[in-house]
Order: sequence, then C-alpha cells, then structure tokens
Amino acid sequence: MAGVSLVVIVVVASLVATTLSLTCPLVLRTNAQVERQLLNEGFHRDLETTVFLSSPEDLQSCVVLIKEIFPSGSYVDPNQLRFLKSLGGPDFYVPQVINVETPEHLSPRILAYFYMLPRPFSDGRWVVNMTVPVHLRYHRARSGESYPLEVAVRLQHPAVFLQCEDIGGDACRPLVHLEPCPPNGMQQCEWLPVHTFSTSEAVLGVVPVGNTDLLDTVLLTTTCITAGAMLLILATLRKK
Ligand SMILES: *[C@@H]1O[C@H](CO)[C@@H](O)[C@H](O)[C@H]1NC(C)=O
Repeated sequence: MAGVSLVVIVVVASLVATTLSLTCPLVLRTNAQVERQLLNEGFHRDLETTVFLSSPEDLQSCVVLIKEIFPSGSYVDPNQLRFLKSLGGPDFYVPQVINVETPEHLSPRILAYFYMLPRPFSDGRWVVNMTVPVHLRYHRARSGESYPLEVAVRLQHPAVFLQCEDIGGDACRPLVHLEPCPPNGMQQCEWLPVHTFSTSEAVLGVVPVGNTDLLDTVLLTTTCITAGAMLLILATLRKK
C-alpha cells in the first residue's frame, strides 16, 4: 500500500514538474550559443564573448546576465572594467576585492557578473557581445626536469541568465535563481537560467613558468658576487 502511494506521489510530482517547465517557455525554449576568443599574447589579454539567444519570446525587455568564474590563474581588474564602462562597456559587478599582484597559488577564483541588453541579430536571434581585459597571474616556479615550463589557464564558458519585465508567469517561479541585480550588484534579483551550448572549447591562456632547476645556479652566483663585494669593501677599509 505504501509502495503504491509512493509511486502515485512520484508520478504526480513528475507530471507537475513537466507541466511547470512546459509553461515556462522562456526557460524551456530559449537557448544561448556562447562563443569566445582570447586575444593577444602574454599575461594581458582581451576576452571576447558573444552570446546568441534563440527564443520564441520577445527579449526586448530583458537584461542578459553573463556570470563568469575566473580561475585562480587569472583575474579581471575592476578599475579597468570601470574605465571600459565609461567608454560604453558593459555594466558589471565584481563582489571580491581583487589583488592584482598575487601569484596563482595565493589567489582565489574570481566571480564577475556582466549585464547587457540584447540586440536583434540579422538571423532572428538576439545577441550580446563584450570584450573585457583579462590578466593571467604568475605561477610558482617548478622543476623544469619534471614538469613542462608552461601552464594553460582554462577560462570556462560563462553561465547565462535572463531577467525580463514579465518573468514568465508563476510557472517560471520554481526555476528562478537569485543573482546580483543590474547595474552594479546591489541586492539580489530573480533571474531565469538559459540553457547554453557552444561550438568551441573553453579558451586557454598559456603562460611561462619559472624553472627551479636554475635556482641553485642563480643562488651560487649571487652569493659569490656578494661575498666578493664584501671582501673588496673590507680590503679598502683596511688600507685606510
Ligand atoms: C560586437 O560585435 C560586433 C560585430 O561583430 C563588433 O563590431 C564589435 O566590435 C563587438 N563589440 C565588442 C564590445 O566586442
């Protein structure tokens, strides 16, 4: 008996869940194609992101949230983002204090939220795009005999959310996420997650790493030079 009622409950619950998602087209029938490129070479790069949204809904009244998680080997500089914004760049929110000096192994990963308004694209989809400066951090030196002297910092594709004037009715309510509000992250807002896909892999920033095998040589040379200088000074003092 208990088994039967459990089955009934499960069936009813899944029916309710199906009906709910079916009646929230903004989530069920909207998807986002995310494409990225990491431009330039070295430690200071430009990260170009383009998001194409397909939806049966009119996205005119919506704000797009791009939620990035930068790994500890990279960072964005809020001062730079502020400057970029003054030149027409995206609104953004970076909840952490960013230390631009620390090496990778002493740095946290960084959350960054970018807000943009979708524009109609020629093929009937909607589009947002941005290019933001991203920096790679120095990595701790390691033995060149045992490890490659380059590391790849992997920048995952971002998550995408939508906030529209009419959130999509009560049916969408169970699907709502709380994320920081536009334009600058004061308070939490209700967002609907958008299913994303991409034709490309996560972008990689390759940086050189110091070689600890050379450290002994460096130390020995430094010590010899220092000792030599000391002797020279002592000799000079003695003569006087
Ligand atoms: C957005 O895309 C357009 C068209 O490809 C391009 O001209 C523009 O520079 C891009 N803007 C940013 C901020 O990346």
